[in-house]
Amino acid sequence: MKIVQISDTHLTAAGGPTEEGFRLLVRHLDEDVRPDLVVHSGDIQVLDPDDTADRVRSRELLDLISTPLLVVPGNHDVGMPGLNAWAGITVTDARVAAHVAVFGPDHWRHETDEAVLIGIDSELLGSGLQREADQWRWIEDTVADLPVRKPVLLFLHKPLWSATDEPVDHQVDVGPVARDRLLGLLERIDLRSVGCGHLHRYRQVRRDRAIEVWAPATAFLAAGEDSLPDGRQELGYVEYTVEGGEVTAQFRLVPGMPQITTDDVPSIAQAIEAMTALR
Ligand SMILES: [Fe+2]
Ligand SMILES: [Fe+2]
Repeated sequence: MKIVQISDTHLTAAGGPTEEGFRLLVRHLDEDVRPDLVVHSGDIQVLDPDDTADRVRSRELLDLISTPLLVVPGNHDVGMPGLNAWAGITVTDARVAAHVAVFGPDHWRHETDEAVLIGIDSELLGSGLQREADQWRWIEDTVADLPVRKPVLLFLHKPLWSATDEPVDHQVDVGPVARDRLLGLLERIDLRSVGCGHLHRYRQVRRDRAIEVWAPATAFLAAGEDSLPDGRQELGYVEYTVEGGEVTAQFRLVPGMPQITTDDVPSIAQAIEAMTALR
């Protein structure tokens, strides 16, 4: 079985390079790759979760994918938990509800003959919202109900394991409290992969029986220096193969997709500057 993970499409009603890249990706998946399933690991829309036009346009563009599609939200879709939210945009009940109304449940279980896929909303973790408590209860119930020997692929927007040794001024992973609680719950099942987005770079690391996969963005690379591990600084997607109970993952390039940074999309670079200046 072939599963494709795409991430960080950052689509906008204004069109532009992120849409052009996304259209190349859709054509490539349809014509060349033909996966059984596509998972989008969040940051579907460009920057502002409250921009309804961006959300509607993003939905229309995701509908171009002819393969069954599962999505989890990113911080640009529903906001972030706690202090230090990017541009002060915190996750709220209303923001998650607006996302769910257009894209469907923010956490889900999808079962196939060969594997179980679980998607969760990383932006709720540590939020203190009732939705967070509800999601934890759903995870407990789901894990208790899963077959012990079937491979499980978990997807969420933010990395589960620490993404940087140094503290930075924005959130890069789910943090130790949520990670330890989640890994504790997942102990009884056959967790084989944890796929996230958010960091706009690819990396694959083994964590016990599971592989941790950072999916690359399709929209743009981060401009300039940051304190994150390098990984593979290219736009693309991840192709998972589930075969004979084994799960493997590989980085893939999209033919013809230009390798751009936010500096190459002035409208987005300016919007980032304006939104972060408002903090
Ligand atoms: Fe992103
Ligand atoms: Fe993100």
